[in-house]
Amino acid sequence: MKILLIHIKELLQIRDKSVIMVAGEEMKILPKLENAFLLIEDEIISDFGLMENCPELAVDRVIDLSGQSVLPSWVDSHTHIVYAGNRQQEFVDRINGLSYEEIFNRGGGILNSAKKLQETTEEDLYEQSKVRLEEVIRQGTGAVEIKSGYGLNLESELKMLRVIKKLGENYPIKIKATFLGAHAFPTIYKDNHEGYIQLIIDEMIPAIAKEKLADYIDAFLETGYFSVEETERIMQAGQKYGLAAKIHVNQFTAIGGIAACVKNKALTVDHLEIVTDEDIAVLKNSTTMPVALPTCSYFISIPYTPARKMIDAGLPLALASDFNPGTTPSGNMNFVVATACIKMKMTPEEAINAATINGAYAMGVSDEYGSITRGKKASLIITKPLNSFYEIPYAFASQHIDRVILEGKLI
Ligand code: NIG
Ligand code: FE
Repeated sequence: MKILLIHIKELLQIRDKSVIMVAGEEMKILPKLENAFLLIEDEIISDFGLMENCPELAVDRVIDLSGQSVLPSWVDSHTHIVYAGNRQQEFVDRINGLSYEEIFNRGGGILNSAKKLQETTEEDLYEQSKVRLEEVIRQGTGAVEIKSGYGLNLESELKMLRVIKKLGENYPIKIKATFLGAHAFPTIYKDNHEGYIQLIIDEMIPAIAKEKLADYIDAFLETGYFSVEETERIMQAGQKYGLAAKIHVNQFTAIGGIAACVKNKALTVDHLEIVTDEDIAVLKNSTTMPVALPTCSYFISIPYTPARKMIDAGLPLALASDFNPGTTPSGNMNFVVATACIKMKMTPEEAINAATINGAYAMGVSDEYGSITRGKKASLIITKPLNSFYEIPYAFASQHIDRVILEGKLI
């Protein structure tokens, strides 16, 4: 099947295959072609260029996009899309004055979602989660990382990971799975943290690895959750089974977690609402990608990741949604990009780089996603007519997507 897109107003994020991420000053540049064509063969981008060089080919379908633009699908490297029920009552409790921490200390938060998930069958969990996956597909996401972490026992963590696997088999979207058993201490381990750490290391990780259900390992490294030392043990246990680390860290407090993650060669450190000068120094010259989650800050009213300071110091930055029932009940990457521009003072070029090419690095799919590159998957966003791509964050609540193409298929 060959599809030729012609008269593309702006073809955005065109890159050579050798570029796997952009950092610092490079983030200010979003390479593009104006009045372009793009050729899709089966699920692959096989060619693109200026209209004046458009080849005369026999193709199955020609789509004239006059006035419309094309960019690679969003790559959302941090989500918790698989969950049961919702936490709408906690949302109202926060409006009425309770903090996220106070709700957690009353047995709500992650433990509330864990209770719901444990009581939900695998089939029902799949049905609930696929609705959210279909929604983010319509919103332009072409690759997504999904975490476990609301099971908090072996059986329910396996249930979540099997649902993630099934979603990956049934939808034309790239999915990577992350094991997040260390999301919170279950109530029965409240006074026996060591017992839960041992359960994760000795039973959960080997069982998950045996079924090949996870690509990465995560932990919530935070005051009141998992300590630096506990998280290091979990990262190292994961590494033995080939699971690189992607760690929730510095959401509320800076306790040396970023240095521990870099030391253990974590692929990403995520959240980073609180970042110290030492954290920035440690991240420089590391291969660890910092990941900001601005719609989490928006929803629970906590500080935004200091993106300006980090990028100006020469660091790369990726943006992700954090789609989850407690702190970000949305996976809309258009809104993530807009919020990064509006609240974190990232330029549209920086924000789009962070949500595409750097997102692909942050979920280990740079070889296939994240840019318009010959040989990469034809997973694309076709916009409605736009004045320029600046309109995507500018008209922040508008629906800019006309249609999406996932792995060469028009959705
Ligand atoms: O990334 N901070 C830790 N985990 C999730 C939220 C978990 C929840 O409240 O359900 C996050 O924000
Ligand atoms: Fe998260």
